[in-house]
Amino acid sequence: MEPIGDRLGMMQPKRLRRLRHSSGIRRLVSESRLEPSRLVLPIFVSEELKTKQPLASLPGHYHWPAAEVAQIAKQAESLGIPGVLIFGVTGTKDPAASRAFASDGPTQQAVASIKQAAPSLVIFADTCLCAFTDTGHCGVVQDGRLDNDASVEVIARTAVAQAEAGADFVSPSDMMDSRVGAIRNALDHAGFSETGIMSYAAKFASSMYGPFRSAAGSAPAFGDRRSYQIDPHSYRQGLASVERDLHEGADIVMVKPALVNLSLIHQIRQRFDVPLSAYNVSGEYGMVKAASERGWMDERSAALEIIGSMVASGADFVITYHALDAAGWTSV
Ligand code: PBG
Ligand code: ZN
Repeated sequence: MEPIGDRLGMMQPKRLRRLRHSSGIRRLVSESRLEPSRLVLPIFVSEELKTKQPLASLPGHYHWPAAEVAQIAKQAESLGIPGVLIFGVTGTKDPAASRAFASDGPTQQAVASIKQAAPSLVIFADTCLCAFTDTGHCGVVQDGRLDNDASVEVIARTAVAQAEAGADFVSPSDMMDSRVGAIRNALDHAGFSETGIMSYAAKFASSMYGPFRSAAGSAPAFGDRRSYQIDPHSYRQGLASVERDLHEGADIVMVKPALVNLSLIHQIRQRFDVPLSAYNVSGEYGMVKAASERGWMDERSAALEIIGSMVASGADFVITYHALDAAGWTSV
């Protein structure tokens, strides 16, 4: 049979499907390759527990006692995941957030035991107060208002405690002004000039954090976080926040939530020559989990598509609750 273009008297139409015929050719021309080395696993550590407790809002995740947290860290390490992000959880909440910076606080205990059990892992410690304050806010509340500068002092103190415990990177997620500079200063003065800062720079007041807040017990007791986190409809403020945090000394900047901000990830990648992480947050994980439980999605392909979109947009690594699964799925 004569070619279709000849019959129609036109140029041969472009046959784009030639690149799609077999799994081999699709893999060869694949534009974003996912590997375990792009993943960071979030881990929750509770100071009240003796054994691990499953988290209803984050299926597949647990509250770990510090004494057992090495198990999951070693599992991540053996799957080729380079880093973990530690969240401390406590029932002991007070106005000063004292368990956040106590030398035996849950984050510090977890960091120390992971450092010992899995020394090659990069340990990121989430540096915030919301799981430790009696108000559930990310800073110190005075007379019903969040006191920015008083909060920054406690946050910097928390960062130093995390560095003392062995964290490689502290990761401020509070969104107070000037926290990054204050943390850099405090770390340097305490002798931790080698400890890095991954700032939650473009962090939005999103509806995607629900499952996390019930896991961390960090929902605000009154009001919301819109006076400190960025309005999700104002993503240029994310660019301003990235620029400011880099100026103050952030080593790595993050976009959170990532899935609804792919265009911002892309823009940051074009504008700033710095390492960029993407947080595939709890609500994004929950959407995939819930839909796959109902048979509406295939969990594996949905999760890989979502994580892949973050990498393709320009993220160097993705913090994701799917990290353990995805590491298995992507290492062929
Ligand atoms: C706390 C913090 C939150 C997350 C990370 N650190 C919640 C919040 O800001 O309310 C969200 C993570 C997720 O949803 O997976 N500062
Ligand atoms: Zn917080």
